[in-house]
Amino acid sequence: MHWASAALLVEFCVTMKLLASARRRVWDAVALRDPHAQPDKARRVRDMFDSIAPVYERFNRIATLGQDARWRRAAVAAARPGPGEVVLDVACGTGDMIRSFARAQPQLARIIGVDFSPQMLRQGNYRGLRVPIELIQADALSLPLVEGAVDIVACAFGMRNFDDVCAALREMYRVLRPGGRLVILEFAWPSDRWFSWFYEVYCGAVLPRLGRLLVQDPVGAYEYLPQSVRTFEPPQVLAGRLQETGFVRIRLRLMNFGAVVLYCANKPQRGTE
Ligand SMILES: C[S@@+](CC[C@H](N)C(=O)[O-])C[C@H]1O[C@@H](n2cnc3c(N)ncnc32)[C@H](O)[C@@H]1O
Repeated sequence: MHWASAALLVEFCVTMKLLASARRRVWDAVALRDPHAQPDKARRVRDMFDSIAPVYERFNRIATLGQDARWRRAAVAAARPGPGEVVLDVACGTGDMIRSFARAQPQLARIIGVDFSPQMLRQGNYRGLRVPIELIQADALSLPLVEGAVDIVACAFGMRNFDDVCAALREMYRVLRPGGRLVILEFAWPSDRWFSWFYEVYCGAVLPRLGRLLVQDPVGAYEYLPQSVRTFEPPQVLAGRLQETGFVRIRLRLMNFGAVVLYCANKPQRGTE
């Protein structure tokens, strides 16, 4: 057998073994009815991401047909990172967004990635990037950074997973410098009738099966994903929360028929907005 194929097979088997060793389902049918209302949502979310970390990126590529990279590039372009600036990626996971920023602007002063899942952080691969990367295992609801420390805050597909969206936004606002930029990517349930029907079929029937087929998914991650989108607050509500937090110039851009939303906002310049 070709060496590369053998290596792939070994890697796949190790991954399967890792996933199969997860002792119990994080998301059972009862918790899935309303994942956001679970009092121990943060623990469940962390356990889930710790469990799927080895396959997280590969599954994303397959499930979105590579579109996820395009969404992140759009968010990075909207943030307009400049030379010498500091970027904070909240809920950075395995670092997809960090790599996207570093490639778009190699002269950034630093990119800080924060995530509370040690296994997701461990999977990050930053070889070949010229920008210094600093990873911190911490809760997005209590960022270990001083006020005004960063020029840009990014958060890709993290908001829906937080157990207190307002607290997370307050922290993002606090650590941004006056005039700093915020970019958020998050899934939404599409409002278009036809696409919503297609989405229902894809998320209800295809995605969980794909999860079971490709990665066994013993924790229920790929049932949590569509259900957490379906039961999450609509984009207008999240935009309202940005405003309540103090952000200005709030813009929403719908992608993939509204299934993905890019939120852009600014922290006001001191005394000018
Ligand atoms: C869907 S993944 C997104 C990862 C990455 N941003 C990306 O675009 O691929 C969500 C991430 O949010 C992290 N997360 C969820 N709640 C968190 C919290 N309260 N504090 C820090 N990280 C959190 C999870 O550990 C996970 O890595």
